[in-house]
Amino acid sequence: MKKTILFLLILFSISVWAKGGFQLWQIASQEDKIGNSYLMRTAEGRLIVMDGGYKEEAGYLRGFITAMGGEVDMWIISHPHPDHSGVLLEILKNPKGIKINSICMSRFTEQLLDSEKSGKHARELYAAVSTSGIKEISPTLGSTMDFDGMKIKFLGVTNPEILTNPYNNSSLVMRVWDKKHSVLFLNDAGIECGDKAMANNPIEDFYCDYIQMAHHGQAGVSEDFYKKAKFRACLWPTPTWVYNNDCGKGFNTHILQTITTRTWIDNLGIKEQYVSCLLGTTRIF
Ligand SMILES: [Fe+2]
Repeated sequence: MKKTILFLLILFSISVWAKGGFQLWQIASQEDKIGNSYLMRTAEGRLIVMDGGYKEEAGYLRGFITAMGGEVDMWIISHPHPDHSGVLLEILKNPKGIKINSICMSRFTEQLLDSEKSGKHARELYAAVSTSGIKEISPTLGSTMDFDGMKIKFLGVTNPEILTNPYNNSSLVMRVWDKKHSVLFLNDAGIECGDKAMANNPIEDFYCDYIQMAHHGQAGVSEDFYKKAKFRACLWPTPTWVYNNDCGKGFNTHILQTITTRTWIDNLGIKEQYVSCLLGTTRIF
């Protein structure tokens, strides 16, 4: 009788643990290059990848995904810059056992693709997605998905009318949450993209536990955006030279705006900060 009760208790504990909400990893660049890469695992074990980084990171992320079962339920591409979509293109070219069930992205117009040199990479990515046979999901503004209790709301999709900093300003902006945690993914949103997302959605959608710093923490959304979005912790997908604004001559010798952003966050009193180049790959929760 005692053994039966113990067995039932263990079963109950496992089921509670398994339904403990989604988990989030911030994947650090192994090349100390700029890039954006996150992995989420739902309470039922389904994997969602956010971007993935440069193609040079493909081997590392492939290993990480393989260790978690090798199957990605949805791969989200925030925008088709190589530091966000390079890994996916490499894996589409040569899956090596990685199974992807769907790819979620907001395709750029031809005019938008033509607006930057990296349009060649973007077109190669789009062609690879089209020929892969993998289901493609085009998110619409304000739409919500549910993965085992983990919800994703799209607060911003492609903005072809914004011609300033056009690729970054067409980044997906997303709120991901369940009963335990909430994360705001800004990806590479610039000022215009951030302001548009805030104008198009209730301000409560921007209140979160964790905010992913826009554009790797430099020249992203405005200070006012960070002031209005209430959060308690920051996720920095940022290499050392960007985090320290270092052109090779020491701290704050480059032309990037990272130190300004760091000051904004310090002024907000945010102490909990996960910087990928300082911590390496980290399970956030
Ligand atoms: Fe980027």
